Formats: sequence, structure tokens, C-alpha cells
Amino acid sequence: MTIHLDAVDPALAARLTDWRRHLHAHPELSMHEKETAAFVQARLAELGIPFEADIGGHGVVATLRRGSSNRSVGLRADMDALPIAEETGVPHASTRPGVMHACGHDGHTTSLLGAAALLARDPDWTGTIHFVFQPAEEGAGGAKAMIADGLFQRFPMERIFGYHNWPGLPAGTVAVHDGPVMAAGARIEIVVKGHASHAAQPHLSRDPMLASAHLLVALQSLVSRNTDPLDAAVVSICTMEAGTAANQIPDRAVMRGTMRTHRTEVRDAVAEGIHRIAAGIGQTFGMEVDVSIPPGINVTANTRPEADLAAAAAAGAGLAVRRDVPPSMAGEDFGWFLAERPGAFVWIGNGPASAANALHNPGYDFNDAILPSAATALAAFAVRALAD
Ligand code: NI
Repeated sequence: MTIHLDAVDPALAARLTDWRRHLHAHPELSMHEKETAAFVQARLAELGIPFEADIGGHGVVATLRRGSSNRSVGLRADMDALPIAEETGVPHASTRPGVMHACGHDGHTTSLLGAAALLARDPDWTGTIHFVFQPAEEGAGGAKAMIADGLFQRFPMERIFGYHNWPGLPAGTVAVHDGPVMAAGARIEIVVKGHASHAAQPHLSRDPMLASAHLLVALQSLVSRNTDPLDAAVVSICTMEAGTAANQIPDRAVMRGTMRTHRTEVRDAVAEGIHRIAAGIGQTFGMEVDVSIPPGINVTANTRPEADLAAAAAAGAGLAVRRDVPPSMAGEDFGWFLAERPGAFVWIGNGPASAANALHNPGYDFNDAILPSAATALAAFAVRALAD
């Protein structure tokens, strides 16, 4: 296998930096990645790599085929930006007010183009490689939309790999997890339906504020007393809305939050627990409590053989690899791909963490110095998967 970090010559590294900074300056929100997709298509055309566009929205899938092998693999990057006003002050800062690549998807997209460039000129592999450029990763369902649009039927792939840059991990170091990498997440909405009254006549009310206060406290028992301490779970109530006047007990209160878990069994138990506690509080205080927990995003969990493969491929390509980094409770759309095919989602270090160098922070910027490592890692995953 010839894929190695040394294969990224200074000319390619400079091109990747230019591409990344162009994308950074022109961010587009989820479902609106029209120009980003057009930029990707233009670079693919320059590289002579065929592609199909408008898959699950603005998704693009490029394909390289070589030799007679029927083996196949997919590599994925996300393309969308966030509704955050950039405060980096860098020359390539966002030109679009209130929109910013604050999660590094500009870098992910560029890395996948870099992997395509490396693989297009590397003669030492055989099989089919699909490059999946996904729209709408930031909570807008882009992965599901691509799958619903026939991703795995139109572009058959045995396995799929991807990465997220990770501030706080040394620049270019590849972290590979066994099992869960990112959490399953779901939104929680709870409506407590009471009865309004004058504040001086509380006995005529059914006070949804008091019931909500008990509910908020009781929900904290789900993690502390209903979940195995060795299992990961988060229940966070983040908004409470009720009341408009200081002398009226309101008729309803609304609480919203999120739950995060790494295992399906824990997710189901926590969701069931929220319903149970809400019903109990409703009975205690004599009012109706409605709970809504729509299906959120899937856990992103690596399959063991593919995690081992990714770690071996990265090390073989000259990259530093760590396998001892704890997983995150943040969510990631890649979990839907891993629900369909075996694969691995790795983290690649973006360099030291700081107040500004954190994902979804207005001071964040993707580290261009890791583009050669990221492109090499993705290309190496594909070559090793096809040879495996
Ligand atoms: Ni992201």
C-alpha cells in the first residue's frame, strides 16, 4: 500500500488549504449547501472523478473504480455550517453574516476531496470507492435523506468511514474508539397543564409551576438512581416557560431539554422513565402532563473489526494513533450510516483546546495543518478496506 502521509506533496497541501479557506469564507446552512456542493463538483471535475449530485438534498457522491475487484467502500464528509456569527478575525473569515463553519465541516469536505485526489493518482488499489459528501449534518437529517434517496442501493458499499476534527487532541493524531464514539440524542418536551388563578387564591389553581419544579428535580433521579453508573446517560432540561404576571398562577408550563445515551437499552429505559415520572407528578398534583420525545439521532458506534482496520490503516500511513480517548455525549449524523453498514468514525486532532478552539464556538477555526493527515487517513481507510 502506497498511501502514506508523505504522498501529500507541498503543492497538494497548498491546494487543500486554498479550498478549505474558500469554503470557510462561504458557509451555507443545513439544506442550503448549493454553492458548497457546486464547489465540490467543480473540484471533482478538475480531478477527473465522475459524480452524481442532488442526493438527499444537496448531497454529492463521487466514485472511483479500478481493476476487477468487486470490493467496495464508502468515505463520508459533511458540508454544512452553523447559524453562528464568526469572531475569529482571520483573513478567510465568513463573508456571510450570522453563518459560520464553526464545526470544521469545511475541513472535512476538503479532506475528502484530498483523499479523492490521493486515490485518483495512486495505482496501488483495486475495487470501488464512493466519496459521500453529505448535506445537513447539523440536526437537519441529511444522512437519513441520503439513505432514503437510495445511497446504499445506488452506490453499494460494504463499509463506510468518516471523521470529525477534534480540538484538544494533538494536531493530526487519529483517535479510534471501540464501540460508541458519539451519543444517541433526543429532544424532550414536557407540557404541564394546570389551572390558572389569582396568586392570592392558590387553592383555586392547579399550579403547573410547582408541579414543574418537582418534575425537574425528580427527572434527575433517572441518571443518578435508575442508570448503571458504568453506562453513559445525560438528561438536561434547558428551558422552562411559564407565566406572564407576578400576581397570577399560570395555566401551563413547558419544559424542553435533551437526553443523550450510548446504548439502545439505556436510551429506552431513560425515555420510559421520563414518561413514568411525568405521569406520577401529574397524578400527585392533579393535572395532565404531556411528554413528547421524538426519535432523535442514532448512536455513532464503531464496529470492532472496522475500528481495528482504521487504527491499523492510520498507523501504516504514518499517523499517530490513540485508542484510549473517552467517547463524547455530543451527537453525530454518521450514526445513521453505521446503522446500515459496518464502519468507523474517527476523530483527528485539531490541536490544543482553548476557549476559542472549541467546536460550535465563534472563535473556532479548522486547523489547515491537519488537512494532509486527514486526507491521508481517509484514503488509507479505503485502501485497507478494499484489500482486507
Ligand atoms: Ni460537526
